[in-house]
Amino acid sequence: MADPQEVLAQRVRAAIVAAFGPGYADTDPVIRPSSFADFQSNAALPLAKRLGLLPREVAAQLAAHLDLAGVAERGEISGPGFINLTLAGDWIAGQATAQLADPRLCVPVVDPAETVVVDYSGPNVAKELHAGHLRATAVGDSVVRILEFLGQHVVRAAHLGDWGTPFGMMIEWALDIGQAAMHDQLAAGEFTAFYQAARAQFNADPAFAERARRRVATLQAGDEESLRLWRLLVDASMEYLMGVYSRLQITLTSDDMAPESFYNPMLAEVCTELQDAGIAVISEGALCAFPPGFTGREGAPIPLILRKSDGAYGYDTTDVAAIRYRLVDLKVRRIVYVVGSEQSQHLAMVFTLARQAGWLTDEASAEHAVIGLLTGADGKRLQTRTGEQVKLAALIDEAVERASRVIAGRYEDPAERDRIAEAVGIGALKYGDLSVARQSSYALDFDQLLALTGNTGPYLQYATARIRSIFRKAGLDPEQQTGPVQLTEPAERALALTMLGFGAAVTGAAQTAEPHLLASFVFDVASAFTTFYEQCPVLQAGDPAVRDSRLALSALALRILLTGLHLLGIPVPERM
Ligand code: ARG
Repeated sequence: MADPQEVLAQRVRAAIVAAFGPGYADTDPVIRPSSFADFQSNAALPLAKRLGLLPREVAAQLAAHLDLAGVAERGEISGPGFINLTLAGDWIAGQATAQLADPRLCVPVVDPAETVVVDYSGPNVAKELHAGHLRATAVGDSVVRILEFLGQHVVRAAHLGDWGTPFGMMIEWALDIGQAAMHDQLAAGEFTAFYQAARAQFNADPAFAERARRRVATLQAGDEESLRLWRLLVDASMEYLMGVYSRLQITLTSDDMAPESFYNPMLAEVCTELQDAGIAVISEGALCAFPPGFTGREGAPIPLILRKSDGAYGYDTTDVAAIRYRLVDLKVRRIVYVVGSEQSQHLAMVFTLARQAGWLTDEASAEHAVIGLLTGADGKRLQTRTGEQVKLAALIDEAVERASRVIAGRYEDPAERDRIAEAVGIGALKYGDLSVARQSSYALDFDQLLALTGNTGPYLQYATARIRSIFRKAGLDPEQQTGPVQLTEPAERALALTMLGFGAAVTGAAQTAEPHLLASFVFDVASAFTTFYEQCPVLQAGDPAVRDSRLALSALALRILLTGLHLLGIPVPERM
């Protein structure tokens, strides 16, 4: 057990029971970081209410019963009833030595493991990924990595849009322009141009629009010719998507696509089930569900449209089928939807319907991990000068190009420079995303993302390169360091104590699906290392035991940074 907060919580809980009896065993010890000590317990305040005593009296009783032997030096009452807790340096040192010896860096695995579906990235067939996909992709992939590191069984699910209304339009357009022309455009990766041409025709020509609408139903009914053209679109898109994912070091493979079309065989059955249960009703010819609590203008209930009057199924239907499949067939207890904030109402309606239908029970959770907007400097959705969505590929190219300029001149070998620019550019872009609370919007600012100081990808990459260079200079292997850690200087103690929070940071990020919690932890470690390195000579330390301890702290910092950055999906060059 390395997590200081958890260890202190156990001690305070024991004191609560000793002072007030086993009836109070469930009291939260409320351990928080403190600016006057390492941590403080705020337990006396809620306890005082329950007991009808003064908080200071309760704190005095707790302090009298608090056994901190072996863990902390002091527990002092302060303010209205806080207990300030100062850990013992020897305890921190012992924990740091143990953390270094543990291949998992003292991060516990969850027991028992659960299956978690993470629905992320949200790509669409025949549409290029745009800037808005960056966050749902980077955050989702980090959540997946974090959950897997904790031993959870993760089902990656990219809910690939391949089945809705646009496909009728695109297939009709393919038939109109001929397969050769279609093939040329798709091979060039110009999905957006192809899609926009089909859309323009759809808007301009009512007869075409009518054909397109009918084509959706024909496709969904399994018509061979429609399916053949549709597959051409899917295959070209998959190749393109896998290219972008691999460049971004996103762990999604083609096996992780959970395309809307996958649910097609279930759609009719889902509709029947909901209709039989009285949850779905025919309204203006369409089959609709009106989950309670969602009203639009003038209080009119908002529908999920399950089947259009022409028999076609849409986005709502596949999402409803998907949640049913995940909960009822896969028997999953947790589904995390890493999806933009603009779909909050849609997902909330799907979750409410799943609860009405009895698929989603109190034993399971469906969570919308809300993703805020990536904006331009004006605070509006990032767009090109002509008002179009910025393509994700263009964003990556720009990040890498700018990174190349930042690091230019440092590398003789152009191949090495390009490799490092790629890692720095992509690292900066992804880290910028992951270090912000996912539900907040933020403005893209390349200068800030690529800065070598502050909470940025390049700063963290550089921190690892610097530690590696310490070991390289000394001809030592960071993997071979065993310490033991001993702590005398405040900067050593601060670094070691910060690093003990790794398990809590990973676990916290997993529970809330918030990688920025891990990002800020990794940044804290890098900052504590920087201070330590400024104040404590490592290779120059005179006393061999001190040198061994500082090498151990450096090796531990390196491993924690590398593991943390890996869980965030940030590439790390060996040298910088
Ligand atoms: N493809 C969708 C879009 O572009 C996002 C999918 C999100 N996931 C889901 N289960 N609805 O908007």
